[in-house]
Amino acid sequence: MSPRTALLAALLLGAGACSNDWRTDMWYQPSLRPEDAPRPQPDRSVPLGAVPHYESRDDTEALANPVAPDARSLARGQALFLARCAPCHGPQGHGGGPVSRYFPPAPDLAYATVQARSDGFIWGTISYGGKAMPPAREGLSVRDRWDLVNHVRFIQGRVHAP
Ligand code: HEC
Repeated sequence: MSPRTALLAALLLGAGACSNDWRTDMWYQPSLRPEDAPRPQPDRSVPLGAVPHYESRDDTEALANPVAPDARSLARGQALFLARCAPCHGPQGHGGGPVSRYFPPAPDLAYATVQARSDGFIWGTISYGGKAMPPAREGLSVRDRWDLVNHVRFIQGRVHAP
């Protein structure tokens, strides 16, 4: 036997010894497959940038408004209202926006029923929607939504422009 043939024979023997586990597909591997459940998070861990989680406006009813209705908040609230809410609630917030012709009409925000809502409930309506109103939180920070609550209170005549 030449040294070359001996080497070849040794290699073939070695390959033969593990032939059963010589996978040619990527199915059997230690990594997680798409259909596997994610690994559970470690006990008592908290995600980075965690914020409280609410399901609907019923959960936010008791939240207190942390943003004072100062000039800055009211100006921001009004700008956001004109961009996001006026199509349904009208530019003054008293209903009759153009979308209301094709959608369940959006109410006058100065109605007594809306006046009686808590700030937290209005914040939750903006964030998670109402019975017919779609959620409006996309692209709005928590603070933006409190500025909108302040503007709704301005529409209701309950806070006044400084
Ligand atoms: C697509 C149309 C639409 C848009 C956009 C919209 N709303 Fe509404 N909104 C409604 C309708 C319809 C209702 C009444 C039925 C309901 O509660 O869902 C309503 C109800 C409300 C109420 C009263 C909730 C209650 O039950 O007392 C508030 C407050 C309100 N909207 C604020 C806003 C604010 C602020 C924005 C902008 C961020 C906004 N809405 C954007 C359609 C809209």
